[in-house]
Amino acid sequence: MMTLNHPELVDLLQKAYSAEKAASFAYQGHAASVSDQDKKSAIRQLELDEWFHRKEVLQIMNDFNIPVSGWYEFKFHIIGKIISGSCHVIGWFMPFYFAGRLESGNVCEYFRMRQFFNSLGIDTYDQVLYDMGMKEKEHEIYFLDKIKTNKFLPYYEKYFSWGSNESFNNIDLDKKYPFDNSEHYCKK
Ligand SMILES: [Fe+2]
Ligand SMILES: [Fe+2]
Repeated sequence: MMTLNHPELVDLLQKAYSAEKAASFAYQGHAASVSDQDKKSAIRQLELDEWFHRKEVLQIMNDFNIPVSGWYEFKFHIIGKIISGSCHVIGWFMPFYFAGRLESGNVCEYFRMRQFFNSLGIDTYDQVLYDMGMKEKEHEIYFLDKIKTNKFLPYYEKYFSWGSNESFNNIDLDKKYPFDNSEHYCKK
């Protein structure tokens, strides 16, 4: 059994594992709060994507005997349930906006993990991390598409730094770089 001698990467994996649960919980509440059937089933699919990510992150952790963090599990359980519940009371725009903003930040977590692994000479997880990062990008764009013509978006973008013109990652799905040329994604 290999051990992973990279505290920042270990923490990132533990946090991502638990944060995927928060995202799944949030999407349960989100799906329940929208009435449109297409949106409901699209968000249900996002929930399934996040459960799948959680499983994949756990597999990586198991390869290195990294334990699940009890603290992150607790913290993100609460966060997920709060977001889930709030979807019923804050109207439709804010859950879409903040879900998109959150996904925007998640994209680079997976590309950063890949860079950390590569810095240790490990490339076994390149493909799975690339796929997860790209899936989060698709999630971000799903939400952005739903709100990009909304009159509130420019104000939110100004205060919360995410929207049509601002993103927390440098990936453009329309000009997607193939896996082999994607090393520069999320490099500061
Ligand atoms: Fe995810
Ligand atoms: Fe996501």
